[in-house]
Amino acid sequence: MQSFLLTEMENKLNELKADHLQQIKRAQTLQELDDIFLKLFGKNGQITLVPKDFPSLPKEELKTIAPLFNQVKNNLEQAIKEQRSAVREKSYQKLNEEALDIQPVALQQRSGFIHPVIKIENEIIELFEKLGFFRFEAPQIDSDQYNFELLNIPAGHPARDLWDTLYIDSQKYGINPGQLLLRTHTSNAQVRVMEKVKPPFRAMIIDRCFRYENIDPRHEHTLEQFEVVLVEKGLSMANLQYLSEYFLKNIFGQDIKVRMRPKYYPFVEPGVGVDGECIFCYGKGCKICGEGWLELAGAGMIHPKVLKNGGINPQEFSGIAWGFGPERMAMLKYGLADIRIFNSGNLTELEKIK
Ligand code: DAH
Repeated sequence: MQSFLLTEMENKLNELKADHLQQIKRAQTLQELDDIFLKLFGKNGQITLVPKDFPSLPKEELKTIAPLFNQVKNNLEQAIKEQRSAVREKSYQKLNEEALDIQPVALQQRSGFIHPVIKIENEIIELFEKLGFFRFEAPQIDSDQYNFELLNIPAGHPARDLWDTLYIDSQKYGINPGQLLLRTHTSNAQVRVMEKVKPPFRAMIIDRCFRYENIDPRHEHTLEQFEVVLVEKGLSMANLQYLSEYFLKNIFGQDIKVRMRPKYYPFVEPGVGVDGECIFCYGKGCKICGEGWLELAGAGMIHPKVLKNGGINPQEFSGIAWGFGPERMAMLKYGLADIRIFNSGNLTELEKIK
């Protein structure tokens, strides 16, 4: 006769097996299966606790119960494992079906645009290319020599006050203090182009310049300039007037009137300010222009000393130099009141300028 304890244990194992195999088959989620697993095989799990009573059984009976115990344990473990795979497989299938359901979504489209200053510069470049001008580049970090000295602006000359200059701490590069600077104007290209290109030539320079400025609606520390350097035989102020008219009429319309007024720049003689009749009041006089004219550019016949500095014989060749700020041109053309918009990086505002 087997012991009461053994019978009880056998019944319990068979019940556990029958009940839980059913539960496992019905489980639909990994969470449910984890819960069943814990209930059976956790630290105080129903299967885990069964062997606790083994020592109370006679040795003979242990031989009966041990294989049954192992079989039930393995069956349940195996069933959980299989059901886990089945549940996973089902959820992958579901994901797959959902993936097929995905609809293409229209993304918001945003296209780039050309900066208003670059736009006006491109127009200017095209205009001067038509007259046979080529582009020339000069360094933005340059020497006092090219930016001032060779342009007939010696150290200590009061004309230097026309340009508030940013100097580079050059001593650490072994260059005397005050000799290296951020160019204040594209005129630093004048002597450089004379040294590089044999006359006659027509060059244009368009790029960044820098000034030690207090920034306000009309002044920027970083600004663009456009400069024309033209060296040929027999040039005169008439050619300068023609160039000014050609340029301003093409930018602002054929009706604009253009005049020259004497003005001092050390590297030209005679030097002039080039004015356009005010495009806002048509010469009547208004808040923007004052007396009916807007100063648009500085220009003149290149000074004989500057030609000589560039290795050109002033008896043989004459030159015209002519320069202005494209930002100011863009402000007038697009009716803008504040120069700071251009370097602001504010795309929303810049995009509005048309
Ligand atoms: N470089 C001058 C400035 O920055 C502008 C200028 C004046 C350029 C007269 C010229 C010129 O070529 O002839 O204010």
